[in-house]
Amino acid sequence: MIIDSSTSVVVTGGASGLGRAAAMALAAAGAKVAIFDVNEAKGEEVAKAVGGVFCRVDINDEDSVVAGYAKSRAAIGQERVLIHCAMTSRRGKTLAFDKAAGKLKRLSTADYEAGVQGTLVASYRLASHAAEGMATLPPLEDGERGCIVLTASVAAQDGQIGQVIYASAKAGVNGLVLPMARDLSDLGIRVNSIMPGIFATPLMLGAAQNVLDSLSASVPFPKRLGKPEEFGSLALELARNSYFNGQCIRLDGAIRMAPR
Ligand SMILES: NC(=O)c1ccc[n+]([C@@H]2O[C@H](COP(=O)([O-])OP(=O)(O)OC[C@H]3O[C@@H](n4cnc5c(N)ncnc54)[C@H](O)[C@@H]3O)[C@@H](O)[C@H]2O)c1
Repeated sequence: MIIDSSTSVVVTGGASGLGRAAAMALAAAGAKVAIFDVNEAKGEEVAKAVGGVFCRVDINDEDSVVAGYAKSRAAIGQERVLIHCAMTSRRGKTLAFDKAAGKLKRLSTADYEAGVQGTLVASYRLASHAAEGMATLPPLEDGERGCIVLTASVAAQDGQIGQVIYASAKAGVNGLVLPMARDLSDLGIRVNSIMPGIFATPLMLGAAQNVLDSLSASVPFPKRLGKPEEFGSLALELARNSYFNGQCIRLDGAIRMAPR
């Protein structure tokens, strides 16, 4: 897909971290970008920096997502590309010793459900609404109409202790990719996911320096956290390279996460 000023892009979670970097990369390639986020101050800031539009969207709310797409399509046109980075989740061990109660406590089904909603269900919501809009676009070369990039995690394959919700929900995100790419193949809409390793975003940079140093040392090469712009570069390439389809790609410096 040629990315230029006729290409409209929606980036969720675009106010920060990996989404922000993807928005910057697509905008630098000439695309018009809409930022979907709950953080209005930072979202407006990024939208201004990329010459795009900010839409206050909560990915967990169906009406908010529908309204966000309506606003972005009115402002910059029907998106040909969706980069979905935002997520909400919870953490905890399946069974953890509760000192106060003196017994094992089960991670609740309600916690599990909330994490799956914010990670897997939200990915389906954002992707399926985008696909419905992309289906109305005139086809490009080879009949291509659009491209959806979801964000999983290396935890989808190497889930750690305490990540039962996040890891299984991200595995579900990867699980969406091939059947959705097949569902949408007649319409020329591609679907891929990126599994980031450990990236230097506000999500990670809150950790203590010794933790960050040990995380960096655990990456085979390069021995550092990923740079958000490296994620942005892959997101751009997945949009640009029309032969990427139905694929889940690790971007991780060869890290394999240990159990804890
Ligand atoms: N940073 C990493 O090391 C890493 C590793 C693996 C996977 N990931 C994945 O990458 C994605 C982005 O992570 P990040 O590190 O850039 O995080 P981040 O915290 O820097 O950015 C996340 C953005 O999502 C927004 N957001 C949160 N809840 C939202 C909601 N309900 N609706 C709309 N927007 C919402 C936040 O306001 C924020 O701007 C996530 O899906 C995360 O699971 C990150």
